[in-house]
Amino acid sequence: MNLNEVDILITPQEIRAKVQTLGQEITREYSGKDLLLLGIFKIAFIFLADLVRAIDIPVQIDFMDISSYGPSTVSSGEVRIIKDLDASIKGKNVLLVEDIVDTGLTLKYITAILHKREPESIKICCMLDKPSRRIADIKPDFCGYAVEDRFIVGYGLDYRENYREYPAICELKPCVYQGRNDKEQPPDKS
Ligand code: IMP
Repeated sequence: MNLNEVDILITPQEIRAKVQTLGQEITREYSGKDLLLLGIFKIAFIFLADLVRAIDIPVQIDFMDISSYGPSTVSSGEVRIIKDLDASIKGKNVLLVEDIVDTGLTLKYITAILHKREPESIKICCMLDKPSRRIADIKPDFCGYAVEDRFIVGYGLDYRENYREYPAICELKPCVYQGRNDKEQPPDKS
């Protein structure tokens, strides 16, 4: 990790402990039920891979790939499905696994699409939540940490496709993106 560019907010050890706790909560909640974990490329691939091994009941896993409409740094929430789920979710308990919930617009849009497919339930599990940024009425059912309005990288989260591999959850230092034009700055997603 390049500590000239990031400040560590949550260490790998803390992440491991938190993922275990989330796994236990999810195990309790879905005990005796079928559970489908739904991941969105590339959003939560690291978190989902850790979480699935912390859950102590049988699970199925499926993925969607989406792309946002419009300028990449402004989240309207409206998305285009590039790769759909492999199987029907009708009658299933779906747990959407997200790295970070920011405005909530993307999840609002995706859950609306999924609800039309008649699942038994849809819940949301996120590692990070930025509640101060929320626009849509989305509330994660399972959440690792609430964070302030900072730009976060690492543990799967990127800035311009970099830093995803950092094992800690970090704040990207403003000096990394200052001086760039508006489109290239960390997202103002409102
Ligand atoms: P929302 O529609 O505003 O909730 O956007 C959620 C998506 O924006 C997340 O899944 C991330 O891909 C991205 N995002 C939001 N905040 C950050 C951040 O601090 N760092 C990296 N990506 C972020």
